[in-house]
Amino acid sequence: MTERFVVSIDQGTTSTRCIVFDRRGQLVSLAQQEHKQFFPRPGWVEHDAMEIWRNVERLAPRVLRRAGIGLDQVAALGIANQRETTVLWDASTGVPIGRAIIWQDTRTDALVHELSARPGAKEVEERSGLPLATYFSGPRLMWILEHTPGLRERAERGEVLCGTMETWLIWKLTGGVDGGRHVTDVTNASRTMLLDVRTLRWSRESLDFFGIPAAMLPEVRPSVGVFGTAVAAFPGVRIGAALGDQQAALFGQTCFTPGEAKCTYGTGSFLLLNTGTELVPAQNGLLSTVAYQIAGEPAAYALEGSIAITGSLVQWFRDQLELISSAPEIETLARTVADNGGCYIVPAFSGLYAPYWRSEARGVIVGLTSYITKGHLARAVLEATAWQTREVVDAMNANSGLALRTLKVDGGMTADNLLMQMIANVLDVPLVRPLAVETVSLGAAYGAGLAVGYWPDLDGLRQNWHIAGQWMPAMDPSVRDHEYANWRRAVERTFDWIQ
Ligand code: G3P
Repeated sequence: MTERFVVSIDQGTTSTRCIVFDRRGQLVSLAQQEHKQFFPRPGWVEHDAMEIWRNVERLAPRVLRRAGIGLDQVAALGIANQRETTVLWDASTGVPIGRAIIWQDTRTDALVHELSARPGAKEVEERSGLPLATYFSGPRLMWILEHTPGLRERAERGEVLCGTMETWLIWKLTGGVDGGRHVTDVTNASRTMLLDVRTLRWSRESLDFFGIPAAMLPEVRPSVGVFGTAVAAFPGVRIGAALGDQQAALFGQTCFTPGEAKCTYGTGSFLLLNTGTELVPAQNGLLSTVAYQIAGEPAAYALEGSIAITGSLVQWFRDQLELISSAPEIETLARTVADNGGCYIVPAFSGLYAPYWRSEARGVIVGLTSYITKGHLARAVLEATAWQTREVVDAMNANSGLALRTLKVDGGMTADNLLMQMIANVLDVPLVRPLAVETVSLGAAYGAGLAVGYWPDLDGLRQNWHIAGQWMPAMDPSVRDHEYANWRRAVERTFDWIQ
């Protein structure tokens, strides 16, 4: 019998990746393509949705060729995507309306501020499980509708469609203007502020609050279940799953049991704790979000701590300050010194996300003296990721009433051993990294494979998780407390800068 495989598309913030996985969850081949980042004004960040679709079309034959397999050997296709990024397009031509506005974009800052004071704001937050912030799609969609003449009327007539990246890709994959499916999954829908996270339906009241016509929204579906059959890029292949990338990583790390948590270290970092089928209302600056839903089963929920800037701080250190020429060099540079020399960097580039949600905050470097070298700065860059994780874990422990005992980690930054040790030290819990580092793609593949019976059940997937790295905490508690207090004082400075 011919061997079969599962393919995933991970449509991320900086690039799109296609990966072929085998039955043991092992990576067979990978193809990746970056896309252009548009920064038309300070705080604005955009993508070209058509460029991203063309990248998917290009990557599909490439990844199959590299695996040496044909389309008939692909059992299913899963999609994971950057969340909250919002794209609108003309339903009859398929042409995007403007560029997609991405999750890091802060143009809705003033709008969000104003919305927070309106009657009904608290109820929107309560229903969605999210705080009113520039991060989410709802305010962004409202902003687009208010700034594009005639768009609301067209949207009300069903002439304009909207969605997050998985919605756009599924619509294109299933035929676009020729019968494309206009659908989303519960995890992505739970990032819009428009969903009632308990009923898993669009909320009429929340749509009214933001002035969003229901006709432009996709149908909400379970994350794991057949969305349709592709006619483009992977013609004939069933789309078996769609998940927001952070939820996909939770799935790929097989955190199926309440109490299991993972943190993915990418451009930003996102810590998700599975809280089971009962929604735990978020407190302390965390989010309540849908973890996943398998068709025919109740949804699983998660608490999330979202950190906007971690890997992108290393990119900034490389590209804007030019103190290193490649990201991995930061570890070597940081190892040239024994400590941070009293220097702290708080990267509030898009304001601060969890646990503060202060979109007006701006980044600071404190503790500069003539003693400070680029080595100390490199250390402060890495420590910023560690302390931001600590803040999120503190909030998570307080919110869930459980003390985190171990943290599963993944993402590009986990290759940095110094950083991983720093995180274990400041959390005072062990970190574990799986052999399969492409957990986002793997999670989408797992979902798709489950939907079509390629993998029988969740227990089977757990067998594929193998430990590859572990870091045990080794830091004097008094040093940890002292350093943490310094970090928090540095964070306070980012609020002082608000005008
Ligand atoms: O919520 C934003 C997140 O989904 C982005 O993830 O990995 O594309 O930066 P990434």
